[in-house]
Amino acid sequence: MKRILTIVGARPQFIKAAAISHVVRDEYENELQEDILHTGQHYDDNMSGTFFRELDIPAPRYNLGVGSGTHGAQTAAMLKGIEEILLTKHYDAVLVYGDTNTTLAGALAAAKINVPVMHVEAGLRSFNRTMPEEINRVVTDHVSYRLFAPTQTAVNNLKKEGFSDSKIVFSGDVMLDNTRNYSNKAKVDPQWPERFILATVHRDFNTDNEDRLRNILAGLCSAAEEHQCEILFPAHPRTRHRLDSMNAMSDFKGIHLIEPLSYLETLGALLRCKMVATDSGGLQKEAYFSGRPCVLLRPETEWTEIVDAGMAMLANANTEHIVDSIRGMWNLEPKVPSEFGDGHAAGCIVQTILETT
Ligand code: UD1
Repeated sequence: MKRILTIVGARPQFIKAAAISHVVRDEYENELQEDILHTGQHYDDNMSGTFFRELDIPAPRYNLGVGSGTHGAQTAAMLKGIEEILLTKHYDAVLVYGDTNTTLAGALAAAKINVPVMHVEAGLRSFNRTMPEEINRVVTDHVSYRLFAPTQTAVNNLKKEGFSDSKIVFSGDVMLDNTRNYSNKAKVDPQWPERFILATVHRDFNTDNEDRLRNILAGLCSAAEEHQCEILFPAHPRTRHRLDSMNAMSDFKGIHLIEPLSYLETLGALLRCKMVATDSGGLQKEAYFSGRPCVLLRPETEWTEIVDAGMAMLANANTEHIVDSIRGMWNLEPKVPSEFGDGHAAGCIVQTILETT
């Protein structure tokens, strides 16, 4: 029996881990044992606990309870806690996801004591080194033992950085597995407006800059007025704090600010909405998988295939560009995504882990 330690801590990681945990439990119960370590990076129930319950993810065996902090303090506390566990318990490999501080801490802690690191969602690049996520993903890739690339673009990025072919596995995207597996369980709240654009903002370069945040909200409000719809805005805690301290919402009437959605509610909102506007990496993909056009509230994206497919436009935090992009894509016919694998990424990843550890 092989043993892996899955290290998660932030909302998108719980969702991705669900896909893999289910495959481990359903198909490899006698070959692979998975323990989950939660760093505590996200700790509010609607940012963490709800995902474990709704997606039936096994309870974490370890919880470091690290909480919020500066990048250095948060990452350091995780690094220390993860190392302590890896020094006392044997694991054949460590599994990390994406690009958060939790990913970086898990990868560094394991690599330095020679526990093989398996990186899910490897090879993503925004080529913007001012983003903490870009630093996290570049460093994580470079200390990983196997790189699970969700798209061919990610494979190409890794090759350009000199990784050998033997380390790179084109697995497809576990988030596509999830959209396929859970869409029939999507939840819809009867309180949502009839016709809406689903909007989220959480990146520090948007939330921590009042002008950018106001420009985004102004663009969304103008578009809502033009298309006679409303904006459903589930706010990340970081964004909620910021909006409260700016005392801004009275200036932006058509926006329904609500608590963060669960995963199944997010799928429901995607199926119900007319369009998506977001700075989230995950939500832009889920919009594509659900056939919804997406306005990207960022200057660039790691998921260039969605822009190339014509299903997303980069509007940054520019009010006019946001309005124009929403107008330009309002009646777009959905495309069936072909760039993110076949919806069986989790199976490919688990098999590779078993074969290579
Ligand atoms: C993190 C990831 C980002 C990912 C995002 C998903 C990093 C550098 N960033 O960003 O890549 O897309 O998660 O949500 O790791 N907070 C709460 N309650 C919570 C969690 C956070 O109130 O449960 C507040 C705290 O004030 C905290 C702030 O949100 O300071 C930011 O949280 P943090 O974990 O630092 O980063 P995210 O913005 O969530």
